Amino acid sequence: MAGRAFAGSLMRKSGQPQLIGTSRQMVELREEISRVARSDAKILVTGESGVGKEVVAQCIHVESPRSNVNFTAVNCGGLPENLLESELFGHVRGSFTGAYRDKPGKLELAHDGTVFLDEIGEMTLRMQGLLLRFLETGELQKVGADGGGRVVNVRVIAATNRSLRDLISQGAFREDLFYRLNVIHIEIPPLRERREDIPLLVEHFLQLFARDPGCAVRSINADALAILSRYSWPGNIRQLVNVVERLVITGREPVATPDDLPPDVRVHEGVSFRPKRERRRTVADDLYKRLIDEHESFWSCVYTLYMDREITRGTMRDVIRMGLEEARGNYRIVARLFNLESRDYKRFLNFLRKHDCQLPFKEFRQ
Ligand SMILES: Nc1ncnc2c1ncn2[C@@H]1O[C@H](COP(=O)(O)OP(=O)(O)OP(=O)(O)O)[C@@H](O)[C@H]1O
Ligand SMILES: [Mg+2]
Repeated sequence: MAGRAFAGSLMRKSGQPQLIGTSRQMVELREEISRVARSDAKILVTGESGVGKEVVAQCIHVESPRSNVNFTAVNCGGLPENLLESELFGHVRGSFTGAYRDKPGKLELAHDGTVFLDEIGEMTLRMQGLLLRFLETGELQKVGADGGGRVVNVRVIAATNRSLRDLISQGAFREDLFYRLNVIHIEIPPLRERREDIPLLVEHFLQLFARDPGCAVRSINADALAILSRYSWPGNIRQLVNVVERLVITGREPVATPDDLPPDVRVHEGVSFRPKRERRRTVADDLYKRLIDEHESFWSCVYTLYMDREITRGTMRDVIRMGLEEARGNYRIVARLFNLESRDYKRFLNFLRKHDCQLPFKEFRQ
C-alpha cells in the first residue's frame, strides 16, 4: 500500500517511529512505552486493526537498551505453519524440498534485538507449542536439526487484534503461552475513543502526502475535518492514512471539501451526503444513530425493543447491515461499534444466529 510505504519512508528518514496524538490516552501510552522499554519483559500489544500496534512495538524497541540492534517483525498469520516454523527458527540443509542450505531463522538473526510477533492469535497450536518451548529455554530448534541449538537473547513483543481469552476458551490458543507473553499488556484504544487526535493525524498525513508536487490539495476545510472527526474509523489510523492519501491524490482544488471525502466516510452525514436514491429515514436509521452517536448499548436500545416485539426482524437486520457496512464485514468490530463488551461477543453472535439476523459478512468485505 502506497500510504504505508510513504509513511514508512518518512519514519526511516528521521530514524524514529512516529506516534502522533495528544489525547490523554496517547500521553499515557507514551509514558507506558518509556516505562516498559527499560526492562526485558515480554509484552502483549492488543487493539483493533490499524490502531498502531506495530508502531508501538517499534517505539518500545527504539527507547530500549536494544535499540542499537535490530527490530525484526514476523507476521505469524501470513505464512503456512511449516514456512513460519522455518522463518522463525531456521532450517538445516536438506530438511525439506528446496532447503538447499542451512538458513538462520528470524529469532537467531534478531539476537540481542527485539522480535515483534504480529498476529500471534493466528498461530497453530503446534507452532504455539514450539514458541512456548523457545520462550522457556531461549534455545533454537531448527527445522530438521537433531539436538537443541544455539541459545539466543531476544526481547519478544507479540501483538494481536483478536481476543486471546476468547481463543483460549475455544481451545485455539494455549493458556500457558498466553501467560508467558502477557507479562506486560498494552491495549491501544481505537481512534474513535480519542477523537481529539483526528485533526492532528489528518494534518500530519496531509502535509506528508501533499509534499508531492503533482498534488493540488494543500489543506482541508473545516466542514470536511468535522466529518472526519465524527466518523467512527473502524480501520483506525491505517484507514485514516488511506483516506487522506486518496484525498490528496484525487482532489482538484488546494482546499479539500466534504465532496472530496469517500462515500463510506460521509454516509452517515445526512446533510453533506445524499445517497443517489433518496429514501425516508427509517426506524433502523434512528436506532443505528443511537448506537453510534449516543453510544447506547445494543442490548439496551435494540435488543430489548426486538424482544418486546416493538421492532421487526427486518429492522433488526437493517441495523446489523449498517453495522456491517461500517465495519466492512467484521462482526467483532460491529460488536464494538454497538458498544458491547468483548465478553458479550459470543452472546451477540448467538442471538443473531438464533433469530436469523446474522447476515453473511462477505458482501461487506469490499
Ligand atoms: N499514533 C500514530 N501516529 C502516527 N501514525 C500512526 C499512529 N498509529 C498508527 N500509525 C500509522 O498507521 C498505520 C497502521 O499502524 P500499525 O501497522 O502499527 O497498526 P496495527 O495495529 O499493527 O494494524 P494491524 O492490526 O492491521 O496489523 C501505519 O502506517 C502507522 O505508521
Ligand atoms: Mg500490524
